[in-house]
Amino acid sequence: MEHADSGTLSDLTALRDQVSKFLMRYRFGVAEVETKLNILREEFSLVDGYNPIESISVRVKTLESVLEKAARKGVELDLDAIKSGLSDIAGVRVICSFVSDVYRIVELLTSQDDITVLEVKDYIANPKPNGYRSLHVILEVPVFLSGGPEQVRVEVQFRTIAMDFWASLEHKTYYKYDTQVPQHLIDGLTEAADAASHLDETMERLHHEVRDYAPPERTIGV
Ligand code: GTP
Ligand code: MG
Repeated sequence: MEHADSGTLSDLTALRDQVSKFLMRYRFGVAEVETKLNILREEFSLVDGYNPIESISVRVKTLESVLEKAARKGVELDLDAIKSGLSDIAGVRVICSFVSDVYRIVELLTSQDDITVLEVKDYIANPKPNGYRSLHVILEVPVFLSGGPEQVRVEVQFRTIAMDFWASLEHKTYYKYDTQVPQHLIDGLTEAADAASHLDETMERLHHEVRDYAPPERTIGV
């Protein structure tokens, strides 16, 4: 085995530090977005006695995954090029019970002063041909580092429980069969996407009816 000389070793150490700093900013970025969402969630629970957010999950891509995606998308393997070429190094997923809550939370988050919206893809209004539904927002959030504020790009995916249920099965199916998914499974997924969409509509309708229902005043005694 060859021994690295001290020059190469310090180059590698510097590169490793640069990469850790690069990924650290994305961890701070998702933490900022997560805090904003948690504040909205708690405030709703307290003021309205109702929680529009079922769950929030966050992830930052690993270095391997960042490099793999950059290579796949033809992005130069340089940190600045990766920063501007990839929008989903930092990801947040927000699951709501109802479609109306998705739009409400998107509006409340994206209208905040320090958030810059770069792109919105509304696959709820315009589902993908395979039936995929979700609302994706690519935004920038400032993180305040010792050297000053830095804008960090984060992809936030908003969806309902039904949309999430479908997307995880679809993802698993394609992962397992790669590109060779049998036609009857593709048909089954299309059918399930329609059912999920129908379920969301029905749940929304029932939710509104229950919310607007004013029970008759109860009389005490007989
Ligand atoms: P990527 O190169 O995958 O980032 O796609 P894109 O840049 O064209 O963006 P898009 O908004 O279409 O998709 C971004 C992410 O949404 C994906 O990485 C998945 O997490 C999710 N997604 C998009 N389409 C599908 C789909 O058909 N099925 C599932 N399960 N997830 C999807
Ligand atoms: Mg993307």
